[in-house]
Amino acid sequence: MITVNTISQCKQALGITLRPVGLIPTMGSLHEGHLSLIRAAKKDCQSVVVSIFVNPSQFGPNEDYQSYPRDIEGDCALLEKEGVDILFAPTAAEMYTFGHDTWVEVGSITERLEGKARPGHFRGVATIVLKLFNIVNPDTAYFGQKDAQQALVIKKMVKDLDINTNITVMPTVRSQGGLALSSRNQYLSESGRITASAIYQSLKLAEDLYEKGQVNAGFIKDLMRDILNNAGAKIDYISIATADTLEELEIISQKALVSLAVYIGTVRLIDNILLG
Ligand code: PAJ
Repeated sequence: MITVNTISQCKQALGITLRPVGLIPTMGSLHEGHLSLIRAAKKDCQSVVVSIFVNPSQFGPNEDYQSYPRDIEGDCALLEKEGVDILFAPTAAEMYTFGHDTWVEVGSITERLEGKARPGHFRGVATIVLKLFNIVNPDTAYFGQKDAQQALVIKKMVKDLDINTNITVMPTVRSQGGLALSSRNQYLSESGRITASAIYQSLKLAEDLYEKGQVNAGFIKDLMRDILNNAGAKIDYISIATADTLEELEIISQKALVSLAVYIGTVRLIDNILLG
């Protein structure tokens, strides 16, 4: 694996790699969720590029940018083992040079759910992902269904801006109890992990109810709320929305995304499940 830290080194390394090129953008602290994207890229592509960059512009002022888990050595070992060709791990100063003042604003889809809870988050995500696409020029980029809204925002940006990159979205990888793998899970205490197991239980309940014929979104959300409250999770939001545009549904009459954000203590976790 070649590790590069600057944009020019990255472009140089890409000059000698075979196409198709697959890109997996990450913020590091890699786990099996990230590795599932890398494995999909290894299957589809001749060359696989992984980026590790904790992107300051997608964190709000009171969020965990400074304390976001970083483990570049552990990450490198994992990437070597997966047979990744290029690791691009730039500094913030490399990606945002002095005076950087251009931002990508994706429209209404970024105003809901995570976008509403974290103002400016998707502007930061879209900007960094477009920059990575311009630097790496990948044939395909891989994203996780774990961050369902993020995947939709990237797809919308690619469509609206005629970007020549295919977007592949891979299923959420979960631990045995169902908890979606996340770099932030390492902040959880032992009891926090038990509380967090209510997240998947509530999503599975939604799926069960829907499969048994329940289409009243309010009814389903009330029961999900009970499970989460009883476990001691603090609910930020619970949503049942159209799977493509994320408009809230009262009656589930089409493919829907059930998504939620909760606080377990100070740790904010998100998860989702598709219905239909
Ligand atoms: P990060 O949280 O590191 O996630 C990188 C990619 O891994 C994202 O596409 C995310 O959806 C996927 N992923 C995370 N956990 C997963 C899981 N349990 N199962 C499957 N896929 C999972 O998302 C970001 O970084 C950033 O916003 C980024 C896109 C890199 C832009 O800065």
